[in-house]
Amino acid sequence: MKKTLLSVSIIAILFACATPKNNSTSTDTKVVLSDLEMGQKLYPGYTQANFDEGKNLYDSKCAACHATKSPSSKSPDEWKGIVPKMSALSNKKNKPISAAEEELITKYLVTLSSK
Ligand code: HEC
Repeated sequence: MKKTLLSVSIIAILFACATPKNNSTSTDTKVVLSDLEMGQKLYPGYTQANFDEGKNLYDSKCAACHATKSPSSKSPDEWKGIVPKMSALSNKKNKPISAAEEELITKYLVTLSSK
């Protein structure tokens, strides 16, 4: 009798573990993150204001010499290399981009290219 009870308990525990949870990724529904959610996943504490500032800086500072590319046209790693290179070039040409601005631009581009 004790043995049977133990077996039932073990089966119950195994079954509980095998039951998929509601937030399981094994469903067909693809979870689409908003821009802000993606930014916060990559950068804890990232805010809507950070995102907007990054966008404004990209649209103004990075358009000083050439047209800007769509953020999704490059990979996150490519942007991480391009932004410091371009900021250095911009500073050399007396169009200053501060370290803080460079960071906001990078986060904005990496966020959008990660989606
Ligand atoms: C001072 C002028 C100037 C500013 C400001 C500037 N760029 Fe550029 N950019 C250039 C020049 C010149 C080239 C082409 C030569 C090269 O690739 O180094 C270029 C090329 C590029 C390319 C193509 C290179 C590639 O690897 O595909 C990208 C992307 C780019 N810039 C992004 C940016 C971003 C992002 C910013 C803002 C952080 C920015 N640029 C600001 C002058 C500038």
